[in-house]
Amino acid sequence: MSRTQDQRDLLHHEYSDFELLKRLLRYTLPHWKIFSIALIGMLFSTLFTIVQPLLLKSVIDDYVLKKDLDGLGFIAIIYFSVTVFSFVLNVITSYITTITGLKIITKIREEAFYQLQELSMDYYDKEATGRIVSRVTNDVERLLNLLSTGIIDAVVNVMFLGFLFVILFSLDVTLTLSIIVFFPFLAVAIVYFRIKSRAAWQHTRRTLAKVTGYYQEAISGITVTKALSAEEFVTEEFNTLNLDNYQARIRALILFAIMFPLMDLLLTIGTALVLSIGGYSVGQESISPGTLVAFLSYVTRLSHPIMVLSNFYNSLLASMAAIERIFDILDSNPQVVSRDSKRLANVTGKLEFENVTFQYSPDTDPVLTDLSLLIPPLQTFALVGHTGAGKTTLASLLLRFYDFKDGYIKLDDVDIRDCDLENYRQNIAIIPQDSFLFSDSIKNNLLYGNPQASDEEIERALLKVGAYDFTMSKGLDFEVGERGSRLSMGERQLICFARALLADPRILILDEATSSVDAHTELVIQQSMKNILLNRTALVIAHRLSTIRFVDKIVVLDKGKIVEMGSFQELMAQGGIFTDLYEKQFAGQDI
Ligand SMILES: Nc1ncnc2c1ncn2[C@@H]1O[C@H](COP(=O)(O)OP(=O)(O)OP(=O)(O)O)[C@@H](O)[C@H]1O
Ligand SMILES: [Mg+2]
Repeated sequence: MSRTQDQRDLLHHEYSDFELLKRLLRYTLPHWKIFSIALIGMLFSTLFTIVQPLLLKSVIDDYVLKKDLDGLGFIAIIYFSVTVFSFVLNVITSYITTITGLKIITKIREEAFYQLQELSMDYYDKEATGRIVSRVTNDVERLLNLLSTGIIDAVVNVMFLGFLFVILFSLDVTLTLSIIVFFPFLAVAIVYFRIKSRAAWQHTRRTLAKVTGYYQEAISGITVTKALSAEEFVTEEFNTLNLDNYQARIRALILFAIMFPLMDLLLTIGTALVLSIGGYSVGQESISPGTLVAFLSYVTRLSHPIMVLSNFYNSLLASMAAIERIFDILDSNPQVVSRDSKRLANVTGKLEFENVTFQYSPDTDPVLTDLSLLIPPLQTFALVGHTGAGKTTLASLLLRFYDFKDGYIKLDDVDIRDCDLENYRQNIAIIPQDSFLFSDSIKNNLLYGNPQASDEEIERALLKVGAYDFTMSKGLDFEVGERGSRLSMGERQLICFARALLADPRILILDEATSSVDAHTELVIQQSMKNILLNRTALVIAHRLSTIRFVDKIVVLDKGKIVEMGSFQELMAQGGIFTDLYEKQFAGQDI
């Protein structure tokens, strides 16, 4: 599992760092006013922080040493006010920037969701759900820090360092130069840890995506796990992944844990140097005691911007990697696009397949080969065949879940690839093989068919499919659970029928569930099938062959080709694949 996930962790697009940054900044542009205000606020608060040691110098040189105690009170008030003011500015700016950051990530999440709704099925065939989910949750979240205070903090701290050195030089050149000696050491340390921690965080992220992915799969497959008593196996496998992530994180954290104290250490050495050189200079009276105190105070402040900046760099790297994965989703193109935007009106429902050949990917064998079929309006055709024959695939093409290149499919003589996709799909509905329901109320599940349906319409649909009694006893607000797990198979199927009925499409595809239901439910389902297929063109992909006696024509598909076609009696008389299928099923039921 881990290996395939690693292989899948490839991006479909390549981006340069510059491109990523440019696009990321584009999201901040609409909020430039807020960011400018925040920047100005932060600059002021930085300026205040910067003048504090100068005030300290003045206190010592101008007041303490001169014993001017009245003036001392005055300067203490200024010092206090400056501190409070800078605190308030900090609170306000970080508040408004965090809100703006939140706004941006909410927007990115919205865009990603929209895009995921638009992408075609081939995308989902290739991507593991857990990985997509990790991108739109973990990765988007990772941007918050950068987009809120991160960038502004970085700008401010670069300026802070600039100011700091201007002041230091103006205070005393020799002392400043003695600090600058330490800069190469700091720089080497930072670059080293930068490279190391980039790799460490990347690894952490990858292992986290695996944990998320495994969680997701383990939960959706819980019934299988329980039924096979595979809990221990699954848990062990999960624990391995979880431990990997833990260890990766620890490695990243150790690097962090070493980095900050190391910088502190370097700065302490710097401070000691300043203290000895400065102390000597004070003794020589070449600088004032106040200058030395101010200097020491500045030196301790030096570590803050450096740490903020290196932190920012890390957060920038993490964000770049994250945004790359998010843009990868945003930039994925739906494979299925329309060549034209023809809108269909008054559809009669004539369906025509002509020499359709289709393969899921270029390097695999075709699943459907040179398939031609005409379904006249309002007729019901049944599609039968061995498992893997290509029945569901045929339905997927009709729904334009995938695109095909060879041949054409026409609805009312219009090539479906020329139709406006949304308009086209409004004419067609499928009741899928797995009777998928959303984890929502019965009513909301039905509304997916037609969001405007009134309660009366809903009840009428439920009556027609024979689902009225059980839905009324449970109530329309009954929560069906994930994928409808709180309902029986048969109930799920009937709700799907009602949902399709509410959509009231011209063409209905029914991919019959393979699981068997009891005889009574089977009868109910058969009856509702007849009801929902009425007055429309229908294609029933049938597994229970007894259910298709009433159809107009039966089409037998084998290895992607139509091999037999005719009425039930005709096919039985032929003694071909259909007869074989029927007899096997009949024998199966007999046992
Ligand atoms: N998303 C996919 N990507 C690649 N190959 C696929 C995909 N879906 C189906 N196939 C392949 O296409 C072939 C036909 O599958 P399809 O689902 O159409 O069969 P089916 O006739 O509906 O079978 P069943 O009766 O079991 O539902 C199979 O060999 C299957 O492996
Ligand atoms: Mg199928």
